[in-house]
Amino acid sequence: MATSTKSLVSIADISRDEILTLLGQARYFEENPNNRILQGKVVATLFFEPSTRTRLSFETAVNRLGGRVIGFSDASTTSSTKGETLKDTIKMVSNYVDLIVMRHYLEGAARYATEVTDIPIINAGDGANQHPSQTMLDLYSIYKTQGRLEDLDITLVGDLKYGRTVHSLLHAMKHFPARFKFVACDELKMPQEYKDFCDANGIKYEEYTEFSPEVINNSDIIYMTRVQRERFTDIMEYERVKNLYNLNNAMVQDSRDNLRILHPLPRVNELSMDLDDNPKAYYFEQAKNGLYARQAIICRSLGIDIPVIPAQK
Ligand code: CP
Repeated sequence: MATSTKSLVSIADISRDEILTLLGQARYFEENPNNRILQGKVVATLFFEPSTRTRLSFETAVNRLGGRVIGFSDASTTSSTKGETLKDTIKMVSNYVDLIVMRHYLEGAARYATEVTDIPIINAGDGANQHPSQTMLDLYSIYKTQGRLEDLDITLVGDLKYGRTVHSLLHAMKHFPARFKFVACDELKMPQEYKDFCDANGIKYEEYTEFSPEVINNSDIIYMTRVQRERFTDIMEYERVKNLYNLNNAMVQDSRDNLRILHPLPRVNELSMDLDDNPKAYYFEQAKNGLYARQAIICRSLGIDIPVIPAQK
């Protein structure tokens, strides 16, 4: 039954209860990934920045639910190269579809899109700002592997300055008290605004520059991130920091049994291939969880009620 449609621009816009509902719906979709509840719906995927997982999992989510997809993965083939504004692009596409999923290199682009159209917008990443659907699959992955979201030791490693996945995750974790370790070099450390957010919301954190055995062996989740070449204006700075943090099999041999290693992917050098067969490596399953989390998000955005398998109280 259709209720109201809703955009998802920032994970900060949704409540703890809504997050738990989405996690329960993701679990429902993991058990029931194929049905026709989107029959008659058309979804646009507008990707102004490259993507593999996010775009393909959103499109798979729609296809498995019986909807149809239009869109582009390369904005250079669109009329934006002729000077068409983002506003006009969004207004035009809104004439054709029921929902827009968009990724854009400008922070705030998805929020802006919601202001120029009445149809729901899902933010699939806006610059270094937010990546809320990634956060939902990250939370689902943490819950599935740890059995809870609270009272965990979570270590974020790498590009904490530009990494929109870690920024979004911190916003969500204000609802689920945990202890964070931030591991980054000075050039890529967590921005002050996110540390202020942690302080204001009682999120405990410690900062490290060294990815030491003590840090690794006292973690339930290690969330590795890629140093994002595309965010640097100074390529020499990128070259200086790009290989500072990597994780291999030997480094986790004394880690907790319940440790799981996450990474939003793509990886470059930060996860050694020798980790891939380690049962603590969870990044490929994490990406698979994106399908179920995004099925739940799409249904929320289109106002389609679906069952919830409760995740936690
Ligand atoms: N995690 C993620 O956003 O991957 P893609 O850039 O491939 O979509």
